[in-house]
Amino acid sequence: MKHLCKALCCLLAAILFVLPLHVSARAADSGAKLLAITYDDGPGPYTDYLLDELAARGVKATFFVAGYNAAAYPETLKRIVDEGHQLANHTYNHSNLNTLSSASITTEINSVQSLITAAGGGDPAYIRPPYGNANTTVKAAAPAPLIYWSVDPEDWKYRNRDTVCRNIVNGSYDGAIILVHDIHKTSVYGSLDAIDELLDAGYEFVTVEELLLRRGVTPEAGVMYYDAKNRGVNLSAEQISPEYYDESKLTEHWGYDAMRLCLEQGYLQYGKDGAWLPNHYVTRGEFAMALGKFCGVFSSYHSPLGNPFSDVDAGDERAPYILWINDSGLMCGYDGHFRPDDRITREEIATVLARYLLTTGRVAQTDGTSLALYRDRRFISDWAREGVATCTDCGILQGGATGFFPKDNLTRAQAATILQRLSQY
Ligand code: NI
Repeated sequence: MKHLCKALCCLLAAILFVLPLHVSARAADSGAKLLAITYDDGPGPYTDYLLDELAARGVKATFFVAGYNAAAYPETLKRIVDEGHQLANHTYNHSNLNTLSSASITTEINSVQSLITAAGGGDPAYIRPPYGNANTTVKAAAPAPLIYWSVDPEDWKYRNRDTVCRNIVNGSYDGAIILVHDIHKTSVYGSLDAIDELLDAGYEFVTVEELLLRRGVTPEAGVMYYDAKNRGVNLSAEQISPEYYDESKLTEHWGYDAMRLCLEQGYLQYGKDGAWLPNHYVTRGEFAMALGKFCGVFSSYHSPLGNPFSDVDAGDERAPYILWINDSGLMCGYDGHFRPDDRITREEIATVLARYLLTTGRVAQTDGTSLALYRDRRFISDWAREGVATCTDCGILQGGATGFFPKDNLTRAQAATILQRLSQY
């Protein structure tokens, strides 16, 4: 029996070890995971510090400078070019170009181009229209490729280093273009924290120009590029999302069997019009409901303790399962909040699964030594270390060769696969 368990564990480990690495198809250029981080609206008082820190990490970035700031920092512009970064154009006055005439658009662009040229930068330099606004007049007037973004941490809104870092790390995917503003101190620090985590996760940071080049995109003037997936162009906002999946190809999805099982059993819910949404990220509330249904909890579940969460509505179909998972001690809230719509992280799931496996007597207490496997172990939260070690020991949820990626999110297909394995455990 013991040998059988061990063999089963090895099998599960073998299956799940590769799971996180197959989430999205990697492009074929040497298998690298590429990111382009872009800094807008500067330079500013923190840009030189940022350049020092990027150099220390060997990271290349792209700076979309605003003319009114660029004119005040000619030496910083030169540093940007000399140190191998890409210097790019964010217009002189940060105007909404959609409201301007073609001649005024050209003036906005050319007045920054002369500063870029003086600093030794590209001519014509890539352009990011302020607010991402580029109507057909703007596109026709643009002498260079237009660069949008795919990861927006809203750093201008959250002036908090940790929030900026988390939003960048959670949103990043291979081929993404990240938007940050180096005029805010919290953005500079938060983005550097995120860069450290993403470097540990195996990403390479390149300029936008190199990102497009290495992904086989030949950038054209007046065309908007969002990222380097799907050749980067002319896709709807929904289609450029990492959560997008073409539902006509569900049977080709790696998680098809597990998704079908979980949808048929009702652990996971169908989306609008019966969509499977295999690449959509799982929220905390959705996972609580999935595990609750998996464990046979009824929708009529009534908490003996009442509802302690101000953000969980009694009428919410997830509510009984959220209350059950809290009552059972498997997954708790924070200061009266459950945050049901937040994406669940890998370390959160590991903690819940470990508690479930322990309380049902399926696994023994971990000695924690398996954490030494992970290069990114210092990023695993203290409260999650035991859970990650337990899940690693039994192979139900493991990391890859480069780390556990504790703050990454899980897709519905990944969650379905975990439940499928759990049902066989
Ligand atoms: Ni801007």
